[in-house]
Amino acid sequence: MKTQATSVADTQTTTAVGPIIFLGAPGAGKGTQAKLVAERYGIPQISTGEILRQNVARGTELGKKAKVFMDKGELVPDDLVFGMVAERLRNADCVKGFILDGFPRTLPQAEWLDALFADKFFANRCDKPPVVVNLVVGYNQLLRRLTGRRSCPSCGRIYNVYYQPPRVPETCDTEGSRLVTRKDDQESVISERLKAYEQQTLPLTDYYRRTGRLREINGDQEPEKVTLEAFSAIEHGNRV
Ligand code: AP5
Repeated sequence: MKTQATSVADTQTTTAVGPIIFLGAPGAGKGTQAKLVAERYGIPQISTGEILRQNVARGTELGKKAKVFMDKGELVPDDLVFGMVAERLRNADCVKGFILDGFPRTLPQAEWLDALFADKFFANRCDKPPVVVNLVVGYNQLLRRLTGRRSCPSCGRIYNVYYQPPRVPETCDTEGSRLVTRKDDQESVISERLKAYEQQTLPLTDYYRRTGRLREINGDQEPEKVTLEAFSAIEHGNRV
């Protein structure tokens, strides 16, 4: 049986939603929720972490440089990320809107993004300011989610051995593929990622709060509830 949120997500709307930014600590559920939001509004989910991991897997120059930082749980330097994001946002599939999952995560990235949106090319495309959805989850819960996370290498579906286990252990329900654990989901790397979040990304909540764009959601509830609150934040009264 489908959950309430899944069936809502299945009903696509034609509303042009504009830019949506998902903020939150590693493991807060950004990827899980961004996927459902993307399906509902028919817009792309742009995960900087995923694009970087693809570059690492393909052995590109960007991937080689980024890997050094990602393996340690550190953020990749801003100048490596900017070109990658600008290029992706210029794609035609971003006209109706897009979800940024994992970007921005430093103050310079947030300021750079605001400048990009003010650029003639983007301003002509969309006059909607971004909705910033911040998923708030406590430290211990984040640790459990990250150590229990598995994903399907074929379809990208995210599971959790504690909270959202597959029907057959370590196997994707839809693809039948063997699930994989992300390299940076080892405990020593997780603690560095959480440190980087506290020091470099958390200040962004104040940045967006000051401009009235921040919408906070308790991410420590059933995924379906989080999804419904995210839809509501996106659709109602969060535009300045
Ligand atoms: P990235 O891939 O962005 O990782 P992250 O921010 O650390 O976030 P995660 O993907 O770990 O977590 P999530 O919030 O998406 O949670 P998920 O939905 O999977 O970045 C990786 C690395 O790339 C960074 O460390 C950095 O080096 C680099 N990078 C990326 N972007 C960058 C940038 N802009 N600048 C510089 N460097 C950058 O959920 C987690 C688990 O919890 C899953 O198992 C899920 O099933 C479960 N779960 C989800 N929701 C719930 C719920 N409500 N209840 C119970 N379980 C839940």
